[in-house]
Amino acid sequence: MDGRSTGEGRRDGRRLAAGNGRTGRPLGRFQGVAEHALGIDIGGSGIKGAPVDLTTGELTRERVRIPTPQPSRPHDVADVVRQLCEEFAWTGPVGITFPAVVLDGHTMSAANVDKHWIGTDARGLFAKTTGLPCEVVNDADAAGMAEVAHGAARGAGGVVLLLTFGTGIGSALFTNGQLVPNTEFGHIELRGKDAEKRASSAAKEEHDLSWHEWAGRVEEYLLEMEKLLSPELFVVGGGVSKKSEKFLPLMTKVRARVVPAAMRNNAGIVGAALAAPGPNGPMWREHLEEGTGPSKSA
Ligand code: BGC
Repeated sequence: MDGRSTGEGRRDGRRLAAGNGRTGRPLGRFQGVAEHALGIDIGGSGIKGAPVDLTTGELTRERVRIPTPQPSRPHDVADVVRQLCEEFAWTGPVGITFPAVVLDGHTMSAANVDKHWIGTDARGLFAKTTGLPCEVVNDADAAGMAEVAHGAARGAGGVVLLLTFGTGIGSALFTNGQLVPNTEFGHIELRGKDAEKRASSAAKEEHDLSWHEWAGRVEEYLLEMEKLLSPELFVVGGGVSKKSEKFLPLMTKVRARVVPAAMRNNAGIVGAALAAPGPNGPMWREHLEEGTGPSKSA
């Protein structure tokens, strides 16, 4: 209903991976390109969706959340994606996030989801189940793209690293506004363990850590990332970012600026919608703010 033009879904994940496609064109006035897309954010416990105005990054309807089927097998999850499309009577392009490496629409890993996803043609499955043009991207990459387009990293130049703290740790690396897709920095080793097992917000719960204890672990992780990548800006996302005042001030050793994500819970949905297929690849090619990129710094 709200998808004003569906365009031809591009099926080339490498083009999608290539970055933000600064066009220099006025926002949302690119003829024939949909200004709205449905964004669906698949997480370990919930699958959330809403139509998004791509020019503003705002949800145009209240978001709907359906619990993730357990086990989270591909066909069961695809059925929930179909339900969400039906809920919004959607007929336009759909962007979908998934918490795994996504190459050319195929999910290639499954750290916190059912292992049947490894090697699945997720884009094909969702397109077949919904009958709509679909694109699939990594959840943290989508959240990062939303922050670059409309949130805390808008207009930021240089190296920016968005990290999402949830069940796992997701990462999205940008250089001058260009995404380097599928970085999996939640899985670097910290004290002999997968970093996300020590410093995700699930780890905080599991080990019953105080904010102070957890902030120490997150800081250690950020310092390690800083050593490896020297970013100018860290954007801290995930559900826990809405409580950023409880832990960001406790981290004093990181040189780079550390800011909370601005889109909060909606970053995944908005980023998913920005990844929906348009006539020239993902929608974000036409809807990124002019000036995102090398010439401007935050
Ligand atoms: C996965 C990533 C994902 C992150 C956040 C990690 O366990 O490997 O692909 O982005 O969790 O969901």
